[in-house]
Amino acid sequence: MAAHSSELIAHDIDEYLHRHQHKGLLRFIACGSVDDGKSTLIGRLLYESQLVFDDQLAALEADSKKVGTQGGDLDFALLLDGLSAEREQGITIDVAYRFFSTETRKFIVADTPGHEQYTRNMVTGASTADVAVILVDARKGLLTQTRRHSYLVSLIGVTSVVLAINKMDLVGFDRDVFDRIEADYRDFAGQLGITDITCIPLSALRGDNVTEPSPHTPWYTGPTFMQHLETVAVDDLAHARPMRMPVQWVNRPNLDFRGFSGTVVSGTVQPGMRVKALPSGVESTVKRVVTMDGDLNDAQAHQAVTLTLTDEIDVSRGDVLCDAASPCEVADTFAAHIVWMHEDPLTPERPYLVKIGTRTVAATIATPHHRVDVNTLDHVPAATLHLNEIGLCTVSLDRGVPFDPYAVNHETGGFIVIDRITNTTVAAGLIERATRTASNVHWQATSVDQPARTRLKGHEPALVWFTGLSGAGKSTIADLVERRLNAAGVHTYMLDGDNVRHGLNRDLGFDDAARVENIRRVAEVGALMVDSGLVVLASFISPFRDDRRLARERVAAGRFVEVFVDAPLDVAEERDPKGLYAKARRGEIAGFTGIDSPYEAPEAPEVHLRTHRLTPEQAVDAVVAALRERGLIPGD
Ligand code: ADX
Repeated sequence: MAAHSSELIAHDIDEYLHRHQHKGLLRFIACGSVDDGKSTLIGRLLYESQLVFDDQLAALEADSKKVGTQGGDLDFALLLDGLSAEREQGITIDVAYRFFSTETRKFIVADTPGHEQYTRNMVTGASTADVAVILVDARKGLLTQTRRHSYLVSLIGVTSVVLAINKMDLVGFDRDVFDRIEADYRDFAGQLGITDITCIPLSALRGDNVTEPSPHTPWYTGPTFMQHLETVAVDDLAHARPMRMPVQWVNRPNLDFRGFSGTVVSGTVQPGMRVKALPSGVESTVKRVVTMDGDLNDAQAHQAVTLTLTDEIDVSRGDVLCDAASPCEVADTFAAHIVWMHEDPLTPERPYLVKIGTRTVAATIATPHHRVDVNTLDHVPAATLHLNEIGLCTVSLDRGVPFDPYAVNHETGGFIVIDRITNTTVAAGLIERATRTASNVHWQATSVDQPARTRLKGHEPALVWFTGLSGAGKSTIADLVERRLNAAGVHTYMLDGDNVRHGLNRDLGFDDAARVENIRRVAEVGALMVDSGLVVLASFISPFRDDRRLARERVAAGRFVEVFVDAPLDVAEERDPKGLYAKARRGEIAGFTGIDSPYEAPEAPEVHLRTHRLTPEQAVDAVVAALRERGLIPGD
């Protein structure tokens, strides 16, 4: 237990606990590599704040003798590594949070590896930090990684930076070296919008300016590292920003009470305050601020409360209650920085989920406008984003959501991207701005609508989607179905992969992203044709399940009929009507479906045709019967 506290604990435990509880909290992130002395610095902070537990200290002494690099002296880097199991790996992965406290403050330090591929971890660690500590080696000055760390910190919105210029002992505590690094850094960081910078000359190894002022740097008059951490102003920006409360749930225990529960993420709310519910835009006045422990006079950022309003307005989970005098914006399309966090890269235009506040909506992300090279800060062209890459992308949601730009409010301007199938988080997003506000582009209602067109046609519209390997028989069967329907007086149109690729999709090849875009466009055109009243026959390999689902979701339930034209690969290859399998086998076509590009078979198609066991007529009968059963075309 901490030596400096033990006396107080002995004679007044209550006072000790009271003081401890009311100490302020500072969260900071430490950026740098092992070579910069980061572990040594944090280890020394823990040690000198004397809150390192005795048993850890004993282990440290033993370990330093065994494996330390400091010739029997305590090796503080080992202390840090010793606190986690990552030691054997020699590198730290993911974010480790360390806790320590002094007489005046409690600290949580997010420790992340400095290695390039760990952008994901740094972004995670920085997202809750008040201050970023960036280490540089005095002998080396600013490095690529210094720029990377600074960029990420500024991207996440941490504005207070400590530049810890370490290893001053190895440059003879030379003031010129310090001044030059400081000037370089202020110049660079200023361009990123980081202006609150404190530079401290250190030797973490020897303890110069860590907690005690160093006798070796008489020219330095600023605070020691610890003094700075203990006194740096933590402006909790969340308090200063306009009131926002995303509604977690509608609390309606009985008919007399209706409250909206959630955490106030910024600002202050009190009874009498005029609030606006978004996206609906309806206003009301706060009646009560209710908690388990009774009503409050006000509630501030980070507090979980239930608000009741003076009017019966319609508010649901996912809505945001805002200060009516300074409300959020509502939009469905954003420019956002996306930090990709998953091994599988971004597939542009594929449906994902976006969770913003308490709301989860369907979303697609377009091909990046650019990727940011985190080392040079250059904007480079990119077709996608891989693990740990950051790009500026247009994100389209399937409905308008309340938000603020991330720079204005971190709580309402950040979101995560979730894979729809695996439900894992694949990316984090930071909203720059709305590129189209939901209220500026409206769906124009037309007087003649689909039911009106359908009355003229005498049959329902539908999107019949033939999927399967090349050579499985999709086009042949679709053609025969169309003939049969045409003869029966059904208005049809055929969209065929090869044909569409001669015109509308002439610009698309066969890599995954192009196939996704191919199907997205066809689904849009198919949906318009369904709206026009036609029975549309779409015949595409459409190898990805997700994209077929997207097509399904573009038309009303019951109007999408998925036909799996199923032929085993060897049968399709044997038929090889266009000679393409032979070419693919000879290596003349790369990424050919079934050969070196995947085909994801439908799991529950409306019609499953095993074409190698059916005659074409039998296959056509099965499709036409399925349309009849669903009432899409008239019976015999
Ligand atoms: S999809 O995968 O994007 O749905 P689509 O149905 O439009 O494909 O086009 C497939 C047709 O393109 C095939 O029938 C074949 O004639 C031709 N093709 C050319 N290259 C390829 C390839 N690499 N993979 C599959 N089909 C190809």
